[in-house]
Amino acid sequence: MKTHIELNKANLLHNLKVFKEITRRKIMFVVKANAYGHGLNEIIEIIKDLPLVDYYAVDSISEAMLIKSRQQQKPILILGWSDRAELTEIIANGFETVVPSNDQFKLSKEIAKKINRKAFIHLKLETGTQRLGLEPEKVTRLLRNFPDPQLELRGIYSHFANIEDTTDPTFAQQQLAIYNQVLKHVPAGRILRHFSSSASSLLFPKTFFDMVRIGISAYGYWPSKQTHALYLEKSSKKIILKPVLSWVAKVAQIKQIKKGSAIGYGLSYRTYNNVKIIVVPVGYYDGYDRKLSNIAQILVHGVKAPIRGRICMDMFMVDVTHVKNVKIGDRVLILGEENGEKIHADVLAELAGTINYEILARINPLIPRIIV
Ligand SMILES: Cc1ncc(COP(=O)(O)O)c(C=O)c1O
Repeated sequence: MKTHIELNKANLLHNLKVFKEITRRKIMFVVKANAYGHGLNEIIEIIKDLPLVDYYAVDSISEAMLIKSRQQQKPILILGWSDRAELTEIIANGFETVVPSNDQFKLSKEIAKKINRKAFIHLKLETGTQRLGLEPEKVTRLLRNFPDPQLELRGIYSHFANIEDTTDPTFAQQQLAIYNQVLKHVPAGRILRHFSSSASSLLFPKTFFDMVRIGISAYGYWPSKQTHALYLEKSSKKIILKPVLSWVAKVAQIKQIKKGSAIGYGLSYRTYNNVKIIVVPVGYYDGYDRKLSNIAQILVHGVKAPIRGRICMDMFMVDVTHVKNVKIGDRVLILGEENGEKIHADVLAELAGTINYEILARINPLIPRIIV
């Protein structure tokens, strides 16, 4: 295997336990985007029999079907929009679906009637993200339709627009106020109220309601620097989140290169000295961002080594002049920790001008995943 992903089961369980302890609520584990690039199959394999997770959240019917093929017990909510054919499959399979508009409400009802099944729905309230969602007055109007012969209302939820990017909670508080206002029209009891993602679960107990939807931090990452800073300011309890994923590759070739030679496409790097270069068989097709060309590092024998030249489609080059005894086939780490050194998704995200979510979620699903 020239490259693979290792998933640390103990770290995943540790992170989920942190959230159970903080929130003491039901946990909806957000496993969309191939479990944030970790590998949906393997993440479900780890979690399926554990009571720690109550619900799964995915984006699409295909992800829900994949989970269903591995476990039947825990309910699955599809957060993303679905067309008629997909919605039919969702209802036929007993999955729970978002209703973000009057159209989708009508369509769910029509399909449920046609196929003689009940549709299990969560109303999505628009509180300020201007993404999928029903304005408050529409939600209160729809709530008058229940009980309904075709639709079972399982939940009502919303999503924060500005919780990770700031240390100022003003906008989040405004969203919360809209949500709380609408909740006054929701009958107490079985309908699940949920709003909180990782950041709000770390910071604001008032957002917990009945269930929290945890994505990025279950995989061992702080949602942002701002969230981390605000947490440290607000809380006396120390939290350690442990990254679940390590990205491993093997040394494909070793070269001695003369001073003044160019490396890679576009000759974008020129050597200042005679150097030893390795070829790593991973590229942007694998999900390693081309913007990391010439700026990122990997770990070779636990020592940081810089990428030289552009990231190619399936490989890149690294200067290992300072690392002893490197051989073809040696294990290198693209993400992960070794000998007290680490390559963290947050650092790659900063270098590539993006967020840790994207660095992880773009890892090619075809790369083999191993649970360790
Ligand atoms: C609707 C919804 N809820 C929860 C989450 C989880 O957010 P996080 O990964 O920040 O915990 C997401 C992630 O994008 C989401 O779209």
